[in-house]
Amino acid sequence: MLTLRKSLFSSARFLLGAQLLGISLASCSSHQKPPATPAAAAPMSAAETAALVTRGKLIFDQTPKYASTYVGNQLSCSDCHIHSGTADYAAPMIDLAGLFPMFNKRAGHVISLQNRIQECFSRSEAGTPLPTDSPEMLALVAYIDSLSLGTKGKPYKARGLVRIPALQGNPAAGRHVYISKCIGCHGDEGDGEPPILPAVWGRDSFNDGAGMNSTEKMAAFVFYNMPQSHPRTLTLQQAYDVAAFIHTKPRPRFNQAYKNY
Ligand code: HEC
Ligand code: HEC
Repeated sequence: MLTLRKSLFSSARFLLGAQLLGISLASCSSHQKPPATPAAAAPMSAAETAALVTRGKLIFDQTPKYASTYVGNQLSCSDCHIHSGTADYAAPMIDLAGLFPMFNKRAGHVISLQNRIQECFSRSEAGTPLPTDSPEMLALVAYIDSLSLGTKGKPYKARGLVRIPALQGNPAAGRHVYISKCIGCHGDEGDGEPPILPAVWGRDSFNDGAGMNSTEKMAAFVFYNMPQSHPRTLTLQQAYDVAAFIHTKPRPRFNQAYKNY
């Protein structure tokens, strides 16, 4: 696994130098001040692009700290998109950029990658959709671009969440699962210990408009990725039960003003 991740990063870095440079440059240069000297008018250097990618990864891993204006809770992108968006079936960002624009069922129309990021801000981050030309958005898009393996238009094999059959979750049984398998990290009040251990309900968690607020989606996430110390040790039924239990708890309300995101 470690080797796989390492080779992923080195190929991403290679692509960054070889191919992606032009794309990121075009989107960023228009937001810079007029250059003072002809030398500064040159396209963004590889070092500058790398700095933007680094900034994007920082925002991805510590969203409440580095994009505080737009975040309403204590969750970072990487609390769900595990290992900075590179973990299989934790909705990874790998090879994602090339798939957009795409049709979005929730919005009912075609959306861009920027729109999809705005959607996670207004729902999963319980915050507000950040402007498409904000420095935070430019950095996040540059970071996601850098995780492209170059198979443009083809979905990554472990994209999204793992596919599971639809079962009925039992909240009472799920309470026992939570107490024996989750409480040690996520706490008896579901509030975890941000930023290390994320909240699964309450003020600091995702809102009721988020994808994770669907029992099936949370069950799929938990089934494959949790408990973090021993992933893939729950039965499917336990995953559904614990998701159903967590969904009986309070959380922030989705702001309907953002329903197009
Ligand atoms: C509470 C968990 C959670 C948080 C926090 C979160 N997301 Fe998501 N995100 C999801 C889920 C769940 C999906 C949908 C996966 C699916 O249905 O396949 C998703 C989907 C996405 C997608 C589309 C992926 C695809 O394969 O089409 C993007 C892009 C994305 N999120 C970006 C972000 C960014 C950037 C942040 C941080 C600003 C973020 N998300 C924060 C849970 C979260
Ligand atoms: C050893 C500590 C640990 C245990 C045990 C654990 N988790 Fe997590 N959980 C984490 C961490 C850390 C993350 C953030 C992602 C990552 O780094 O793996 C996370 C992320 C999550 C998320 C997405 C982020 C959020 O806050 O909504 C959910 C949902 C979740 N865990 C549910 C569970 C459930 C259900 C169990 C029990 C079956 C469980 N976890 C057990 C540590 C743990």
